Amino acid sequence: MKIEVLLLPSQKPRLDSYDLVAVIDTLRATTVIVKAVEVGAMGIYPVKSITEAMRLKEIVPNALLAGERKAFKIKGFDLGNSPLEFTKENISGKNVILTTTNGTKVASIYQNYGKVVAMAISNVETVARYSENFQNLLLVCAGSHGEVSLEDSYTAGKFVSFFDMVSLNDGGIIARDISRSDPMKMLKTSHHGRYLSSVGMGEDLEASLIERKAIPVLKTDMINLKFFGGER
Ligand code: MLT
Repeated sequence: MKIEVLLLPSQKPRLDSYDLVAVIDTLRATTVIVKAVEVGAMGIYPVKSITEAMRLKEIVPNALLAGERKAFKIKGFDLGNSPLEFTKENISGKNVILTTTNGTKVASIYQNYGKVVAMAISNVETVARYSENFQNLLLVCAGSHGEVSLEDSYTAGKFVSFFDMVSLNDGGIIARDISRSDPMKMLKTSHHGRYLSSVGMGEDLEASLIERKAIPVLKTDMINLKFFGGER
């Protein structure tokens, strides 16, 4: 097995195709996507801008608008980007159109590199078990505003550490090395974790550590991309 870890989405993958591409934005976009799928959302549409989200709302049935700017709910939207808001009551059976600062911009970049899934600390073990027989894997960390983020690199490293016989790029070795630390301590130390705590969203750090079994898979729905929890 070969695992290539991109610590930033601006890095270029070595191959043209992979058995699996896992996109990671642990605080908080992929944590939210994993939870949304687990509690029964029909689909999560990751979009880049507020304008795109509003346009999609016109054509996607039974859809909620969700997302953040500077971690806060966008004006006029139904939900922010906190995993605590993505309850069964709020979103079961619904579509969610999600726009976030970094995370929702990443999935579309890799749509042609293989099967794309959303990964966070919450489902890292489930995705690792699912990947046991794959040969070439790409893990892409969303980072934060073009900078490497501790929590995404940690999540990639956790994934890597489930495998003994694995060939890694240097990004993978760095990620594996930092994944030995305590997860809560790591989240509290990370730049975005400190920011979330400073604006009263510290509970989201704990919520990010709850283990989940969902593996959101990206697919094209008409011309739009969506994560869903269907067949893998
Ligand atoms: C992002 O995409 O940058 C994040 O998910 C930000 C956040 O909601 O904390």
